[in-house]
Amino acid sequence: MTANSELSVLFVCLGNICRSPLAEAVFRSKAQQAGIPVCVDSAGIISYHAGKRPDSRTLAVGEEKGYSFENSCARQVTSADFTKYDYIFAMDKDNLQALKSLQPASSQAQLRLFLSVLQDSDIAEVPDPYYGGIEGFQHILKLIEQASDAFIEQLKTQQ
Ligand code: 4NP
Repeated sequence: MTANSELSVLFVCLGNICRSPLAEAVFRSKAQQAGIPVCVDSAGIISYHAGKRPDSRTLAVGEEKGYSFENSCARQVTSADFTKYDYIFAMDKDNLQALKSLQPASSQAQLRLFLSVLQDSDIAEVPDPYYGGIEGFQHILKLIEQASDAFIEQLKTQQ
C-alpha cells in the first residue's frame, strides 16, 4: 500500500512503450469511473526506451477510445517498485520471470500475469505487438480492457 493506504498497481512489459502504458491508461480510467482510488504506473524490464513517450500505435488505439496518456514516459522497473506497489502485473511470462528474479525478499508485492484476472480465458499473455501492425495493438487493447474490468470487479468484492 502507498502511505495513505490507497491501492497501488504497477503494469510491466518489456520496453514500457506499447503494452504497459496502455494498461496503465485503461486501468486508471476504469478505476476512476468505478470510484476506486488507486495509484497506477507502468515500467519496463529494459531501460532501452527510458524517457520515451508511448509508441505512436499505442497512442492511436488508446486515444481513439478516449484514454489519456498525459505524463506517460517510459522508465525501467526499480527495486523501490517492489515496496511501493501492492500488485505488479506482468504482460507476459518472460516479464513475470524477470520480475520474480528482481523481487527483494522483503517485498510484499503480488506479482501476477495481468490476464490471470480473467477466470475463463485461454489466453495467458498480452502478446508483444511491437513488430506487428496496428491490428496487434487493437487486439491488446481489447485484452487489457477485459482484464481491467475483471480486476475492478474483483476489487469491488473486496471493498
Ligand atoms: P512493450 O513492446 O514491451 O509492450 O513496450 C516492446 C517495445 C520495444 C521492444 C520490444 C517490445 N524492443 O525490442 O525494443
